[in-house]
Amino acid sequence: MKLGILASHTGTNFQAILDACQSGLLQSQLAVVISNNSKSPALQRARSAQLPTHHLSSVTHPDPADLDRAMVSTLQEYHVGLVVMAGYMKRLGPEMLSYYAGRIINIHPALLPKFGGKGMYGSRVHEAVMKSGDRETGVTIHLVDSNYDTGPIIAQTRVQVLANDSAESLAARVLKREHNFYVETLTKIVSGEISLTNCKVAE
Ligand code: GRF
Repeated sequence: MKLGILASHTGTNFQAILDACQSGLLQSQLAVVISNNSKSPALQRARSAQLPTHHLSSVTHPDPADLDRAMVSTLQEYHVGLVVMAGYMKRLGPEMLSYYAGRIINIHPALLPKFGGKGMYGSRVHEAVMKSGDRETGVTIHLVDSNYDTGPIIAQTRVQVLANDSAESLAARVLKREHNFYVETLTKIVSGEISLTNCKVAE
């Protein structure tokens, strides 16, 4: 199964997936990396690995419908079967959601449906967890729909909130878990152990 990565910033989850593909742990091929941010370290990581990269954004395509079509045609050009969002900060357009329906996944650094939705990204997620007093948080991998963090859940794993945690220390521990969990879950998707058609919307 050929994977297409969408990333906006640092790209450490993408790097974990790349490492797993290169070591053979994950039996898939990374076909292309797309970013809306031309300066994204994720694009630099991809170039270092000699992977095809594309900068597609409102800068390259000011009309949202053009951008949507360009994303689909770029992914098609590389025969991408599964779209993997790894820190991609934009909502997807209707063409993307229709052509790749049920084949776009995202990772979120909390136990959705808690601590998700518009504006819940980066340190804000972990600050909200700390403020809530919850003793556990985690990682969610879910299918992508037209809203932020609302698609059916594919897999979740828990991460303890420690008594002496700060939002920063918690964020670092969750991110570390994300890297392994994304690879583990992708491995199960690729092998057929996880079926993307049986995922449920969380209540
Ligand atoms: C991760 O925390 C991921 O859950 C969220 O964005 C962050 C991306 O980090 N969607 P990186 O770019 O993979 O380092």
